[in-house]
Amino acid sequence: MTVIRGATTIAKDTPQEISVAVKDLLDEVFQENAIKKEEVRSFVFSLTADIHSYHPAKAARECGYDYAPLFACVEPEIDGGLKLCIRLMLLIEQTENRTAKHIYQRGAKVLRKDISEIFNVALDGPAGSGKSTVAKILARDYNILYLDTGAMYRACALKALREKVSPKDSKGVEKLLPTLNLKVEYKDGAQHTILDGEDVSLAIRENAVSMAASDISAHKAVRLKMVEMQREIAKQMSCVLDGRDIGSTVLPNAKFKFFITADSKIRAERRYKELQARGQTVEFETLHEEIVKRDKQDSEREFSPLKKADDAYLLDTSKMNVDEVVAKIKSIIQSKI
Ligand code: DC
Repeated sequence: MTVIRGATTIAKDTPQEISVAVKDLLDEVFQENAIKKEEVRSFVFSLTADIHSYHPAKAARECGYDYAPLFACVEPEIDGGLKLCIRLMLLIEQTENRTAKHIYQRGAKVLRKDISEIFNVALDGPAGSGKSTVAKILARDYNILYLDTGAMYRACALKALREKVSPKDSKGVEKLLPTLNLKVEYKDGAQHTILDGEDVSLAIRENAVSMAASDISAHKAVRLKMVEMQREIAKQMSCVLDGRDIGSTVLPNAKFKFFITADSKIRAERRYKELQARGQTVEFETLHEEIVKRDKQDSEREFSPLKKADDAYLLDTSKMNVDEVVAKIKSIIQSKI
C-alpha cells in the first residue's frame, strides 16, 4: 500500500469553496501521480475544526471520486496551526513502481508550522501602487496574516492630530509616543487598528490623515517603535506585510520581497476611485499633487526611506490589473519555495 498526501486551504467556510478546493486537490493528486481508479483503496480526509459547512468526502463523491470508501474526520485545534485546511491521505495499491508525489495547494505546504518555517512576504511601494489590495489577496490565498504597516503610522498621525500636536514637530511627537496606546487586532480575517481602546480603522483612512502619516513616519523615534512592533508580529507568524521599508529595514531577511510601483497619475486615479467608493470627495488634481509630495517625502526622509531593497523584485503595475499582479507574485513565490 502507498500513501499519497495532499493538503489545501479554503478562504471561507462555504460549500462552494470546499467543493472547488477538494476537486482541485484530487485532480492534481491523480494527475501528478498518474493514479488509476482500480488502484485506489480509500480516500481519507481530515479537516481543521473551523470547517463546518460541507463534507469533503461528499464533495469528492460529487466530482466523480466515488469508487473507493471515503472517510473524513476533524483534526484537533492546534495553537498556531493552519486555519481552514483540508488534508488528504490517499491509500493506493501499489501496482507500479513509483514515488508518491504529495500535493500541497494554496499555501498549505509552506504554512504548516510543523513542517516549514514561518515565511514573510514584504511588499513595498509608494502610495496607491496597489500593494494593499495585492497583499490582502495573497494573505487570503496563503491563509496567512496581512499586516498593513501604513495603518500603524496612520494611527500615530491620528493621535497627534487629536492631541493637537503637529506631526512635523519631532519634539512634540516624541513626547506623545509613550502615551501611544496602539494595538493591531484581527477579526474575521481583517485588520483592526485600535487606538486608545477605540477602533480607528476607518478614521485613519481620511485623506487628512494620509499626509500627516507621511510627516509623522519621518521621525526616528516613531519608526523605531513601529518597526519593533512589526518585527514582533512577523516573528510569530507567517504574514504579508506592506509598507515602505519592509524589505529594506523591517525584515531584511524576508524570503520574498517585492517592490510595487506605478505611474503617479495612475496611482492617483486608483486612490481617487477608492475614496469615491467610500463616499469621500477629493479633487483628482489635489490627490495627484499629494501623492507626488508624499512620494518625495517618503523617499527622501533620513530614516528608513521608501526604498527598493536590492534583492526585491520590481513590479511596475501601471499596465497590470490586480489579477495579473497577484499571479506574477505567486509564480515568483512558487519558484522560490
Ligand atoms: O501605505 P499608507 O498610505 O497607508 O501609508 C501611510 C504613510 O505611512 C506613508 O505616506 C508613509 C508611511 N509609512 C512608512 O513610512 N513606512 C511603512 N512601512 C508604511 C507606511
